[in-house]
Amino acid sequence: MGSVYPGIPTVLGKFLQKEYDLSTFIETGTWMASTALWAASFFQEVYTIELSEKIYKYVSDRYKRVENVHFICGASSSELSSILVDGFRPALLWLDAHWSDGDTGGENMPCPLLDEIKIILRSNPEHIILIDDARLILVSPPKYIRETHDLPSYVEVLNVLDSSGPRYTVMWRDVLISVPNSRTDSLNSFIKAQGDLVFFNLLDPEPGSNIGIRAIIGYWGRAFRALRCLPGAISRKFHAGVREIL
Ligand SMILES: C[S@@+](CC[C@H](N)C(=O)[O-])C[C@H]1O[C@@H](n2cnc3c(N)ncnc32)[C@H](O)[C@@H]1O
Repeated sequence: MGSVYPGIPTVLGKFLQKEYDLSTFIETGTWMASTALWAASFFQEVYTIELSEKIYKYVSDRYKRVENVHFICGASSSELSSILVDGFRPALLWLDAHWSDGDTGGENMPCPLLDEIKIILRSNPEHIILIDDARLILVSPPKYIRETHDLPSYVEVLNVLDSSGPRYTVMWRDVLISVPNSRTDSLNSFIKAQGDLVFFNLLDPEPGSNIGIRAIIGYWGRAFRALRCLPGAISRKFHAGVREIL
Protein backbone atom coordinates (compact mmCIF):
# COMPACT_ATOMS: atom_id res chain seq x y z
CA MET A 1 0.00 0.00 0.00
CA GLY A 2 1.10 3.58 -0.25
CA SER A 3 1.45 6.53 2.04
CA VAL A 4 -1.14 8.51 3.94
CA TYR A 5 -0.78 12.13 2.97
CA PRO A 6 -2.99 15.05 3.91
CA GLY A 7 -4.28 16.70 0.72
CA ILE A 8 -3.59 15.82 -2.89
CA PRO A 9 -0.16 14.35 -3.69
CA THR A 10 1.01 17.39 -5.65
CA VAL A 11 3.35 15.42 -7.91
CA LEU A 12 0.33 13.41 -9.08
CA GLY A 13 -1.84 16.51 -9.56
CA LYS A 14 0.85 18.21 -11.65
CA PHE A 15 1.41 15.10 -13.74
CA LEU A 16 -2.31 14.67 -14.51
CA GLN A 17 -2.79 18.35 -15.31
CA LYS A 18 0.00 18.24 -17.87
CA GLU A 19 -0.62 14.78 -19.26
CA TYR A 20 -4.36 15.26 -19.81
CA ASP A 21 -4.08 18.99 -20.59
CA LEU A 22 -6.63 19.99 -17.93
CA SER A 23 -7.57 23.58 -17.15
CA THR A 24 -10.13 22.96 -14.39
CA PHE A 25 -9.74 21.50 -10.91
CA ILE A 26 -12.81 20.63 -8.83
CA GLU A 27 -12.64 19.58 -5.17
CA THR A 28 -15.31 18.28 -2.83
CA GLY A 29 -14.53 19.14 0.80
CA THR A 30 -12.52 22.39 1.07
CA TRP A 31 -11.50 22.30 4.72
CA MET A 32 -8.59 24.77 5.12
CA ALA A 33 -8.25 25.15 1.33
CA SER A 34 -4.66 23.97 1.13
CA THR A 35 -5.37 21.76 -1.90
CA ALA A 36 -7.51 24.45 -3.58
CA LEU A 37 -4.73 27.02 -3.12
CA TRP A 38 -2.15 24.63 -4.51
CA ALA A 39 -4.41 23.97 -7.51
CA ALA A 40 -4.80 27.71 -8.13
CA SER A 41 -1.17 27.82 -9.29
CA PHE A 42 -1.56 25.06 -11.86
CA PHE A 43 -5.15 25.26 -13.14
CA GLN A 44 -6.99 28.16 -14.75
CA GLU A 45 -10.18 27.58 -12.74
CA VAL A 46 -10.59 25.94 -9.35
CA TYR A 47 -13.95 25.07 -7.78
CA THR A 48 -14.03 23.88 -4.19
CA ILE A 49 -17.20 22.81 -2.37
CA GLU A 50 -17.59 22.87 1.42
CA LEU A 51 -20.62 21.78 3.44
CA SER A 52 -19.79 23.57 6.69
CA GLU A 53 -20.88 27.20 6.50
CA LYS A 54 -18.43 28.14 9.22
CA ILE A 55 -15.45 26.67 7.33
CA TYR A 56 -16.69 28.10 4.04
CA LYS A 57 -16.98 31.62 5.49
CA TYR A 58 -13.54 31.44 7.05
CA VAL A 59 -11.66 30.24 3.96
CA SER A 60 -13.61 32.21 1.36
CA ASP A 61 -12.98 35.41 3.31
CA ARG A 62 -9.35 34.63 4.02
CA TYR A 63 -8.51 33.78 0.41
CA LYS A 64 -10.90 36.11 -1.41
CA ARG A 65 -7.98 37.63 -3.32
CA VAL A 66 -7.18 34.34 -5.05
CA GLU A 67 -9.20 35.13 -8.13
CA ASN A 68 -9.29 31.77 -9.86
CA VAL A 69 -10.63 29.86 -6.84
CA HIS A 70 -14.42 29.68 -6.62
CA PHE A 71 -15.44 28.84 -3.04
CA ILE A 72 -18.87 27.22 -2.94
CA CYS A 73 -20.94 26.42 0.15
CA GLY A 74 -23.23 23.40 0.03
CA ALA A 75 -23.47 19.63 -0.22
CA SER A 76 -21.06 18.21 -2.77
CA SER A 77 -23.60 16.28 -4.84
CA SER A 78 -26.02 19.13 -5.40
CA GLU A 79 -23.24 21.67 -6.03
CA LEU A 80 -21.40 19.33 -8.40
CA SER A 81 -24.63 18.96 -10.41
CA SER A 82 -24.74 22.74 -10.87
CA ILE A 83 -21.10 23.05 -11.93
CA LEU A 84 -20.84 19.97 -14.13
CA VAL A 85 -23.34 20.71 -16.86
CA ASP A 86 -23.52 18.19 -19.70
CA GLY A 87 -20.33 18.06 -21.73
CA PHE A 88 -18.31 20.11 -19.20
CA ARG A 89 -14.68 20.12 -20.41
CA PRO A 90 -12.58 17.31 -18.88
CA ALA A 91 -11.48 18.33 -15.39
CA LEU A 92 -9.47 16.90 -12.52
CA LEU A 93 -11.79 16.00 -9.64
CA TRP A 94 -10.46 15.55 -6.12
CA LEU A 95 -13.15 13.79 -4.08
CA ASP A 96 -12.53 14.36 -0.39
CA ALA A 97 -15.88 15.33 1.18
CA HIS A 98 -16.50 13.60 4.47
CA TRP A 99 -16.86 14.39 8.13
CA SER A 100 -13.40 14.88 9.60
CA ASP A 101 -14.00 15.41 13.29
CA GLY A 102 -14.40 18.69 15.16
CA ASP A 103 -16.35 21.44 13.40
CA THR A 104 -16.32 19.83 9.97
CA GLY A 105 -19.57 19.09 8.17
CA GLY A 106 -21.29 15.85 7.24
CA GLU A 107 -21.29 14.02 10.56
CA ASN A 108 -24.81 12.77 10.19
CA MET A 109 -24.96 12.52 6.42
CA PRO A 110 -24.41 9.50 4.21
CA CYS A 111 -21.07 9.43 2.39
CA PRO A 112 -21.60 11.36 -0.88
CA LEU A 113 -18.90 9.53 -2.86
CA LEU A 114 -21.05 7.27 -5.07
CA ASP A 115 -23.44 10.11 -5.93
CA GLU A 116 -20.51 12.37 -6.75
CA ILE A 117 -19.05 9.82 -9.18
CA LYS A 118 -22.41 9.32 -10.92
CA ILE A 119 -22.81 13.09 -11.43
CA ILE A 120 -19.25 13.44 -12.73
CA LEU A 121 -19.59 10.65 -15.28
CA ARG A 122 -22.99 11.84 -16.42
CA SER A 123 -21.41 15.19 -17.26
CA ASN A 124 -18.43 13.78 -19.18
CA PRO A 125 -16.81 10.32 -18.93
CA GLU A 126 -13.48 11.93 -19.87
CA HIS A 127 -13.09 13.51 -16.42
CA ILE A 128 -10.10 12.38 -14.36
CA ILE A 129 -11.20 11.30 -10.88
CA LEU A 130 -9.09 11.13 -7.73
CA ILE A 131 -10.58 9.65 -4.57
CA ASP A 132 -8.77 10.37 -1.33
CA ASP A 133 -8.46 7.94 1.61
CA ALA A 134 -8.32 4.89 -0.64
CA ARG A 135 -6.99 2.79 2.25
CA LEU A 136 -10.31 3.16 4.03
CA ILE A 137 -12.19 1.89 0.97
CA LEU A 138 -9.88 -0.99 0.14
CA VAL A 139 -9.54 -2.51 3.56
CA SER A 140 -11.82 -2.81 6.54
CA PRO A 141 -11.23 0.48 8.38
CA PRO A 142 -11.07 0.85 12.17
CA LYS A 143 -14.39 0.75 14.02
CA TYR A 144 -14.74 4.50 14.60
CA ILE A 145 -14.28 5.18 10.89
CA ARG A 146 -16.86 2.53 9.94
CA GLU A 147 -19.31 4.10 12.32
CA THR A 148 -18.76 7.73 11.40
CA HIS A 149 -17.89 7.64 7.70
CA ASP A 150 -20.29 5.10 6.23
CA LEU A 151 -17.90 4.52 3.33
CA PRO A 152 -18.87 2.41 0.31
CA SER A 153 -16.87 -0.72 -0.42
CA TYR A 154 -14.20 -0.92 -3.14
CA VAL A 155 -16.51 -3.07 -5.29
CA GLU A 156 -19.32 -0.51 -5.06
CA VAL A 157 -16.92 2.28 -6.00
CA LEU A 158 -15.52 0.33 -8.98
CA ASN A 159 -18.99 -0.59 -10.22
CA VAL A 160 -20.09 3.03 -10.25
CA LEU A 161 -16.83 4.16 -11.84
CA ASP A 162 -17.38 1.66 -14.65
CA SER A 163 -21.08 2.44 -15.08
CA SER A 164 -20.51 4.72 -18.10
CA GLY A 165 -18.07 2.33 -19.74
CA PRO A 166 -14.95 0.63 -18.38
CA ARG A 167 -12.32 2.89 -16.83
CA TYR A 168 -8.81 2.28 -15.61
CA THR A 169 -8.73 2.63 -11.83
CA VAL A 170 -5.57 2.16 -9.81
CA MET A 171 -4.56 2.83 -6.24
CA TRP A 172 -1.41 4.86 -5.69
CA ARG A 173 -0.37 5.91 -2.22
CA ASP A 174 -3.67 6.74 -0.50
CA VAL A 175 -5.50 7.76 -3.67
CA LEU A 176 -7.71 5.92 -6.16
CA ILE A 177 -6.90 7.30 -9.61
CA SER A 178 -9.55 6.70 -12.26
CA VAL A 179 -8.95 7.68 -15.88
CA PRO A 180 -10.69 6.84 -19.17
CA ASN A 181 -9.52 3.48 -20.48
CA SER A 182 -7.93 4.99 -23.57
CA ARG A 183 -4.82 6.59 -22.03
CA THR A 184 -3.22 4.52 -19.32
CA ASP A 185 0.38 3.96 -20.47
CA SER A 186 1.72 7.28 -19.27
CA LEU A 187 -0.07 6.91 -15.93
CA ASN A 188 1.56 3.54 -15.36
CA SER A 189 4.97 4.92 -16.30
CA PHE A 190 4.44 7.78 -13.84
CA ILE A 191 3.52 5.40 -11.02
CA LYS A 192 6.51 3.16 -11.70
CA ALA A 193 8.84 6.15 -11.78
CA GLN A 194 7.68 7.35 -8.37
CA GLY A 195 8.76 4.32 -6.39
CA ASP A 196 6.72 3.47 -3.36
CA LEU A 197 6.92 5.72 -0.37
CA VAL A 198 5.89 3.64 2.59
CA PHE A 199 4.41 5.01 5.77
CA PHE A 200 3.52 2.89 8.74
CA ASN A 201 0.25 4.41 9.80
CA LEU A 202 -0.65 3.45 13.32
CA LEU A 203 -4.27 4.52 13.26
CA ASP A 204 -5.65 5.47 16.61
CA PRO A 205 -8.58 3.31 17.61
CA GLU A 206 -10.34 6.27 19.20
CA PRO A 207 -12.07 9.23 17.55
CA GLY A 208 -10.75 12.67 18.43
CA SER A 209 -7.15 11.61 18.46
CA ASN A 210 -6.86 12.59 14.83
CA ILE A 211 -4.60 10.74 12.51
CA GLY A 212 -2.34 8.93 14.94
CA ILE A 213 1.34 8.35 14.92
CA ARG A 214 2.94 8.01 11.55
CA ALA A 215 6.46 6.77 11.13
CA ILE A 216 7.98 7.38 7.75
CA ILE A 217 10.05 4.41 6.81
CA GLY A 218 11.00 5.93 3.48
CA TYR A 219 11.54 4.39 0.11
CA TRP A 220 11.60 0.63 0.56
CA GLY A 221 14.14 0.07 -2.16
CA ARG A 222 16.54 2.73 -1.00
CA ALA A 223 16.16 1.83 2.66
CA PHE A 224 16.77 -1.82 1.89
CA ARG A 225 19.85 -1.06 -0.21
CA ALA A 226 21.19 1.30 2.47
CA LEU A 227 20.72 -1.34 5.18
CA ARG A 228 22.39 -3.98 3.00
CA CYS A 229 25.42 -1.75 2.45
CA LEU A 230 25.72 -0.78 6.12
CA PRO A 231 27.80 -3.76 7.35
CA GLY A 232 30.24 -3.29 4.43
CA ALA A 233 30.53 0.43 5.14
CA ILE A 234 31.13 -0.16 8.86
CA SER A 235 33.70 -2.83 8.14
CA ARG A 236 35.51 -0.57 5.61
CA LYS A 237 35.55 2.26 8.16
CA PHE A 238 36.89 -0.14 10.81
CA HIS A 239 39.67 -1.44 8.58
CA ALA A 240 40.60 2.07 7.48
CA GLY A 241 40.81 3.05 11.19
CA VAL A 242 42.97 0.04 11.96
CA ARG A 243 45.26 0.80 9.00
CA GLU A 244 45.62 4.39 10.23
CA ILE A 245 46.59 3.21 13.73
CA LEU A 246 49.09 0.71 12.35
C1 LIG B 1 -10.79 15.82 4.66
S1 LIG B 1 -11.51 17.40 4.66
C2 LIG B 1 -11.04 18.06 3.09
C3 LIG B 1 -9.56 18.34 2.92
C4 LIG B 1 -9.24 19.07 1.65
N1 LIG B 1 -9.89 18.49 0.51
C5 LIG B 1 -7.76 19.07 1.39
O1 LIG B 1 -7.28 18.39 0.46
O2 LIG B 1 -7.04 19.76 2.13
C6 LIG B 1 -13.19 17.04 4.42
C7 LIG B 1 -14.07 18.28 4.33
O3 LIG B 1 -15.30 17.86 3.69
C8 LIG B 1 -16.35 18.62 4.24
N2 LIG B 1 -17.60 17.88 3.94
C9 LIG B 1 -18.15 16.83 4.59
N3 LIG B 1 -19.24 16.39 3.95
C10 LIG B 1 -19.38 17.16 2.85
C11 LIG B 1 -20.32 17.20 1.78
N4 LIG B 1 -21.34 16.34 1.69
N5 LIG B 1 -20.15 18.15 0.83
C12 LIG B 1 -19.12 19.03 0.87
N6 LIG B 1 -18.22 19.05 1.87
C13 LIG B 1 -18.33 18.12 2.84
C14 LIG B 1 -16.00 18.70 5.72
O4 LIG B 1 -16.65 19.79 6.35
C15 LIG B 1 -14.47 18.88 5.65
O5 LIG B 1 -14.12 20.24 5.69
